[in-house]
Amino acid sequence: MRGLKGRDYISVSDFSPAEIWKVLELSRDLKLRAYGGERVIPVLQGKTLMLVFQKPSTRTRVSFEVAMKQLGGFTVTANWTELQLGRGETIADTARTLSRYVDGIAARVYSHKDLLELAEYASVPVINALSDLEHPVQALADFFTIWEKKGRVAGVKVAFLGDGADNVAHSLILMAASLGAKISIATPKGYDPHPKIMEVAEERARYTGASIEVVREVEQAVRGADVIYTDVWVSMGQEAEAEKRVKELSRYRVTKEVMEIAKPDAIFMHCLPAKRGYEVTDEVIDGPNSVVWDQAENRLHTQKALLALIL
Ligand code: CP
Ligand code: NVA
Repeated sequence: MRGLKGRDYISVSDFSPAEIWKVLELSRDLKLRAYGGERVIPVLQGKTLMLVFQKPSTRTRVSFEVAMKQLGGFTVTANWTELQLGRGETIADTARTLSRYVDGIAARVYSHKDLLELAEYASVPVINALSDLEHPVQALADFFTIWEKKGRVAGVKVAFLGDGADNVAHSLILMAASLGAKISIATPKGYDPHPKIMEVAEERARYTGASIEVVREVEQAVRGADVIYTDVWVSMGQEAEAEKRVKELSRYRVTKEVMEIAKPDAIFMHCLPAKRGYEVTDEVIDGPNSVVWDQAENRLHTQKALLALIL
């Protein structure tokens, strides 16, 4: 295992399974210490993280800002358009400049390519804070939550219902593949996960014992599942296709009836924000099997671990 210091985290596949475990184990330690009263552990004293957003954010922005402060560091947060990027300064020149001021950059972008370009020209670590292709920091919190709730991740069956080509689904597939979990994606034709994601995931699954399947029927994915996961049907940037997406994905809603097909102790997860009444009913997200608030909280603990290791 190479050290994690100085590394980018643009895709779940940037880290080996052993490296992902390192982040998850440190997350557990930091969460325990936070609950024991030690919220501030200044291992990043004097370090600064820049957060750049092309799209709105509640959880990612606040959890990164709080994480840095609890580690003794600072943050600078800006919208893409309020930087000179909005007036046409290149991503490369921006990356070169920012690298002279800050110790890491987390960016939320529409196009994954922009993130790769940022990472190419930045001399400091770059973290994907969500792109059209992946949401790898979300997947860390997701599998940390599964580990916490189920006591294990290997062999756990995760059913993802909805848009199979969703950024959150992609990172979840790669994380399941890395950690030896089973993931079943129930999605209609035309919404299959990106072939490149499937290729990388299947390659990892070969040596971790994970299994990955894409099915059309909700029941097939949900039967025997330990975790039912969904995300919005219309992601940020897809607003023009909203009507079509809602029509084509409505068969994949997580309802009480769907939860009843899964294992009796199955948990419900959602990266949030949720569009209540669409991909999930109030009854499920507010119900006894929902762990969405713990999952949201775990964004903080897992990002603290990630930052402590890579910065
Ligand atoms: N789950 C997530 O990334 O939420 P935000 O869009 O609020 O950051
Ligand atoms: N798939 C959603 C996730 C939001 C955290 C989006 O991209 O809008």
